[in-house]
Amino acid sequence: MALDTLKDLFLSELRDIYHAENQLLAALPRMAEAAVAPALRDAFIKHLEETEIQVQRLDNVFEALGESARGKRCQGMEGIVEEGKELMAEDGGEPVLDAALIAAAQKVEHYEIAAYGCLVTYAGLLGEPQIAKLLKATLAEEEATDKALTALGESGINQAAVAAGMTEEEEED
Ligand SMILES: [Fe+2]
Repeated sequence: MALDTLKDLFLSELRDIYHAENQLLAALPRMAEAAVAPALRDAFIKHLEETEIQVQRLDNVFEALGESARGKRCQGMEGIVEEGKELMAEDGGEPVLDAALIAAAQKVEHYEIAAYGCLVTYAGLLGEPQIAKLLKATLAEEEATDKALTALGESGINQAAVAAGMTEEEEED
């Protein structure tokens, strides 16, 4: 697809994030299952529910634009999800693996924050305030999720990972 206009770019980026969100519908349940700390598991389940709504919002955006709701292969998210899968396949201490899951999830959120930030800007420039509003709602959820993950790390999971390392070193001595 040629990118001749900002509208072309907008549509192309919408299709990219549509595919990204759909990948997350599959990845988030696996992350929830892998999480050991109940608060982390709950955070993934909550964000899965939000992601379902985010996909619906994108459906609404495509409809408002008179375009078919279909994705375009998002290799960025594929790579991030693939790295997450590799992490989950590792053996390791539970708090360390939880800390790794937080890092993987924050990489997802930062990709999405970048994508939705641009989409909100483009929708505004294209004179689509209703669409901008929908995309802004999703952007706010991604930002809140990112902050919640930071708080979870700071509230103890990362500290537990530090403590796990100390026990391991003691055992090795
Ligand atoms: Fe999302």
